[in-house]
Amino acid sequence: LQKIDKYRPNLHFAPKENWMNDPNGLVYFKGEYHLFFQHNPNDSVWGPMYWGHAVSKDLITWKELDIALSPDENGTIFSGSAVVDWDNTTGFFPEEPGLVAIFTHHKDGAEGKPPVQTQSIAYSHDQGRTWIKYDGNPVLRHETKVDFRDPKVFWHEDKWIMVLATGQTISFYSSFNLIDWQFESEFGEGAGSHDGVWECPDLFKLKVENSGEEKWVLLVSIGDNPQFEVGSRTQYFIGSFNGSTFVTEHNDIRWLDFGRDNYAGVSFSDIPREDGRRIYLGWMSNWRYANQVPTHGWRSQMTIPRELSVRKINGSYIVIQRLVKELDSYFSLQEKLDDIHINDVETIKVDARYMDMVFELENMNAKKYGITIHHSENHSTTITIDTISNSLILDREKSGDISFSEMFSNEQVINLKSNDNIQLRIVVDSSSVELLVNDGEYALTSLVYPDKACDSISIFSLEGDVKLKEGNVYVPK
Ligand code: FRU
Repeated sequence: LQKIDKYRPNLHFAPKENWMNDPNGLVYFKGEYHLFFQHNPNDSVWGPMYWGHAVSKDLITWKELDIALSPDENGTIFSGSAVVDWDNTTGFFPEEPGLVAIFTHHKDGAEGKPPVQTQSIAYSHDQGRTWIKYDGNPVLRHETKVDFRDPKVFWHEDKWIMVLATGQTISFYSSFNLIDWQFESEFGEGAGSHDGVWECPDLFKLKVENSGEEKWVLLVSIGDNPQFEVGSRTQYFIGSFNGSTFVTEHNDIRWLDFGRDNYAGVSFSDIPREDGRRIYLGWMSNWRYANQVPTHGWRSQMTIPRELSVRKINGSYIVIQRLVKELDSYFSLQEKLDDIHINDVETIKVDARYMDMVFELENMNAKKYGITIHHSENHSTTITIDTISNSLILDREKSGDISFSEMFSNEQVINLKSNDNIQLRIVVDSSSVELLVNDGEYALTSLVYPDKACDSISIFSLEGDVKLKEGNVYVPK
């Protein structure tokens, strides 16, 4: 009898089998989105790393292809990026443009010596199906730095820029051919969170909503440190970049996601100009328990791809995340609710393998209010807005299997600016809840392991009333 894989996602990429972590080499080329990923094809826990590969035409449905990059004499294949070499800057593409992958080679150190991390390149003439490693690899090494990894490369004005994680700083390098690299600058001392090693950086320019302004955004993932209860997470900086140096505009620490399960996210390269979006996705897990999550034969999934922008709120610039619009075509409207007064609880039957909903709530005089996702009879996840502490709390203690990690049941909290009016967009899949608040102002991404995705939804208020101004519930088409 075949075991039903109740945790396998419908809307999120997960490997057919075995282990996955970071998204790598996100690039759009010839009508396909490419998602390469950190992969151990021999086990469902982390081990010697390869680049797995999947392609999609719409960012939601993915087709897994053969392994793209395998370990060699320079080491195993850690995280990195991919670009289209439109102008044959490398000399690898005399006939027509193709893809170049820029990645970290990782070699364990011999006898008590530290590991060696170097940057290497590979190129493909057949849309990423097969790869040729450059015979002069590695193309970038460092004499003293041990953490020297996760190159993200983009074309800027007249040259390539590499953004690299170098301990608890980010280093910038430049090149005209992706082969010879020159050091430009280093950023990070005294800036942002230093709770763990810095990993998987990305740098890009974003439009500020409803204005002609643009801002540079630097993403930096921070590795798990047992001293802190939240595990691995991602911070960002808003600032400027002049082709050589990044300068941040703020002193505070900014988190990209208030949930536990969005790490190592980076953005797609070479999205066509007519499209113009900056599309990002993250690894939907946390190093604290990623190797222990209760899936069988495979581990980990990616977030739904998100479109990034910047919004100016009370004078400060905030990164906004919206789920890509391609998701909408997977759903149809089940229920539309208008102007409903709630003074206890209102339940909507939503028996679905996955679902999407948007609720606009106005607080009248409730102490607490929110949404409960009843996954199954015994399993539920609750999102509560606490008007006294002015916070939003996602509680997954009763969401299903939580036994694999002590930290999994801890509350996930967003400190809100105001709680009178709130908009919640929630996508529930077999083993995840993705919450976007106020049209992308806050994201909270959270794994859950219930028996079933969804049975019903309740909107509740405690010690007072709340108004559901508008509610739309979507189910699979
Ligand atoms: C981030 C990371 C990267 C590294 C990769 C190894 O999750 O630690 O820094 O390249 O995973 O799998």
